[in-house]
Amino acid sequence: MKKFLAVTIGILAAAYYMYNFLNIKPPLPPIHDTIWKDEDGTIDNEIYPFSINVTKKNLEYLKRRLRDSVYAPPLKGVNFTYGFNTDHLQKIVNYWLNDYNWNEREKLLNAVPQFRTRISGLNIHFIHLKPHANVLKQKRVLPLLLLHGWPGSVKEFYKVLPLLVSPQSEYDFVFEVVVPSLPGYGFSEAATKPGLDTAHIALIMKKLMNRIGFTKFYVQGGDWGSIIGTDMITFYPESVNGFHSNLCIPPISSLSMIKMVIGSFFPEFMTSSSFKYRLYPFREIFAFLAEETGYLHVQATKPDTIGVALLDSPVGLAAYILEKFSTWENYNRRDSPDGGLSLEKLNEKNYCIDDLLDNVMIYWLTGSITSSMRLYKESVMSTMLRGSPMPTLVPTACAQYPFEIMHHLESIIREKFRNLVYLSHMPQGGHFPAFEEPKLFVSDVRKAICTILNFVENAKQIC
Ligand SMILES: *[C@@H]1O[C@H](CO)[C@@H](O)[C@H](O)[C@H]1NC(C)=O
Ligand SMILES: *[C@@H]1O[C@H](CO)[C@@H](O)[C@H](O)[C@H]1NC(C)=O
Repeated sequence: MKKFLAVTIGILAAAYYMYNFLNIKPPLPPIHDTIWKDEDGTIDNEIYPFSINVTKKNLEYLKRRLRDSVYAPPLKGVNFTYGFNTDHLQKIVNYWLNDYNWNEREKLLNAVPQFRTRISGLNIHFIHLKPHANVLKQKRVLPLLLLHGWPGSVKEFYKVLPLLVSPQSEYDFVFEVVVPSLPGYGFSEAATKPGLDTAHIALIMKKLMNRIGFTKFYVQGGDWGSIIGTDMITFYPESVNGFHSNLCIPPISSLSMIKMVIGSFFPEFMTSSSFKYRLYPFREIFAFLAEETGYLHVQATKPDTIGVALLDSPVGLAAYILEKFSTWENYNRRDSPDGGLSLEKLNEKNYCIDDLLDNVMIYWLTGSITSSMRLYKESVMSTMLRGSPMPTLVPTACAQYPFEIMHHLESIIREKFRNLVYLSHMPQGGHFPAFEEPKLFVSDVRKAICTILNFVENAKQIC
């Protein structure tokens, strides 16, 4: 009996020791404010109005390149399983050349107030939309920073902007939204020296909000936007009231790896999520990730090489970007002849081919594909593995969309986000929900922020 007790206590002590050992978090690395571009040294803290204005010459060059494009015919019956199907690509390019009207699209893109301001040496472009003046008396206004990822842009958020700044009878708040182009993406300048990783972008975003006049604000993001938002609440928790992500990405610790392994044998033990089919079985998830993340390996190692081809060819750029919009919104689209990027069903969805081409145009016209891909090189091996394991107490909300490319166990998410106050399992949608499911996205963000407000203020709004 005594022996048994001693062994049990020994095992428990060893388990406790192991748990603590596996749970060790490295300290946060220092983030130095850096000037990312050589400049003349003058200080300019002004905010200037901005609008997109593309020259005729530029558009003519694009048309010439679209006309001169060449294609390897696809194999018979493979749809999108070998990558972007060039039969369908030719149809899209034909539409782009003959029916897509940039002048109209430019007007739509310029229909929201845009600005630029210099931060850490870089001109940063952003949309800043306020609620209507007569709303201000009835509702509190919450500043919300929306962060896009790759291969997206500010374009992803256009449909949700008017909804977010509109009052809703159930809630006592509306949002005032700021949507920046990430450095090196679209209309924001790229660094000319290495090292601009997500943690340093987090500093730039904090400085942007401070410059606009917000010392405390909310942050929303998916993809890189989620990782940058996570760095913001890790490095600058005092600046962020709450964080919402449509793809919460907790850093993988030794402890979380053990949880994943246990979960692969006993999924019921680790999660009651209706999405456990997206977590397990391991074999299938790993096969899926191996098939779908080649781009990540390329961009995290030699972004400039693939960048040469994509910067030079508008058709190659469109195939590379739109393949992600096809598969990441629903991987079953790989098995259809148009990859889900139909030209015909324009009105049945929340977006149309013109919206997809706007996003491609933002990369093409600004020549930013190479600099956008460098974010993988800068960040995959540095911040993601270095800084982020440190837990954060900033109230966090995670939305899980069924066709997202990966999901994480709630208990692993909680290792990083200690105050996870809201976790939703969405009925539909994938990797670009603001773009794809604007209404669903907005109602989820409102509910999440309401829950965060209740948590922080100990209030009892009905969310
Ligand atoms: C765009 O630039 C042209 C030439 O520089 C100018 O005439 C035009 O007014 C500009 N348009 C806008 C919307 O700024
Ligand atoms: C390709 O699409 C067709 C039509 O939707 C479908 O019948 C076929 O099974 C698909 N094949 C593959 C390999 O995805």
